[in-house]
Amino acid sequence: MSETIASGDYVLLFLDEKRKWLVRVREGEVLHTHKGVVDLGSLMGMPYGCMVKSSKGEEFFVVKPTLADFALKAKRATQIIYPKDLGFILMNLAVGRGSRVVEAGTGSGVLTGVLASWVMPEGRVYSYEVREEFLKVARKNLERMGVMDYVELKNKDVVEGIEEGDVDAVVLDMATPWLVVGHAYRVLKAGRVMASFSPTIEQVQKTVLEMEKVGFVDVRTYECFLREMIVKEGRTRPESFIVGHTGYITFGRKVIRDI
Ligand SMILES: C[S@@+](CC[C@H](N)C(=O)[O-])C[C@H]1O[C@@H](n2cnc3c(N)ncnc32)[C@H](O)[C@@H]1O
Repeated sequence: MSETIASGDYVLLFLDEKRKWLVRVREGEVLHTHKGVVDLGSLMGMPYGCMVKSSKGEEFFVVKPTLADFALKAKRATQIIYPKDLGFILMNLAVGRGSRVVEAGTGSGVLTGVLASWVMPEGRVYSYEVREEFLKVARKNLERMGVMDYVELKNKDVVEGIEEGDVDAVVLDMATPWLVVGHAYRVLKAGRVMASFSPTIEQVQKTVLEMEKVGFVDVRTYECFLREMIVKEGRTRPESFIVGHTGYITFGRKVIRDI
């Protein structure tokens, strides 16, 4: 059974591993590439996985974008969280469909979009961001991912407080996460997880010490490495150049001691 491409769908046009375009299919829309022009309107009604030829006769495959495609092709107002870290964060939060999650800062909205796609349609992500101009970029990225209906963007400083209560997770990716640990503990449901992503070990240390002070347990910090393999007959080996460092990820669980 094949799924058919509809007007308004985002599709990934694949030329080769280094050349991929995330585009929206609509009547009259075209994509200009150095390999010719692709008529995007002509894709409506075609099955996903099909091949389309450009005006120069080059072959592009039309595939369904993954969450990683949306993340890597997002418009960037800030540094984003990469797919290797996004997946690991999701696996370590106690959240799923219907969960309510608080996040700060929104930045480009990449983590926001992944969280929203995990908790939708009944769940919500409440995302705090101090810089209004970043929220505009994040909104565009979230609309492109089709998850804006499940996100509340808040132009607020999260250090001043979190307005939601009884939430299923708190996730931080901001310069001073240790200043939000107390708020996170207060608004989290007991037994649930907070996570914090930080590029430097100094931030991690301050955050972990604060998490232990306010009463989080099972506080753990990780760094994720991802290395692609180049598979060729007789020449299979790891990729030479990789993203060396993105950030450290800390998790902790809220418990109640006095029951
Ligand atoms: C690295 S970016 C977040 C990127 C985001 N996780 C993504 O994947 O696109 C960090 C963001 O935190 C925001 N920020 C820093 N301090 C904040 C605060 N006290 N309250 C709300 N947002 C804050 C910054 O303006 C910045 O946009």
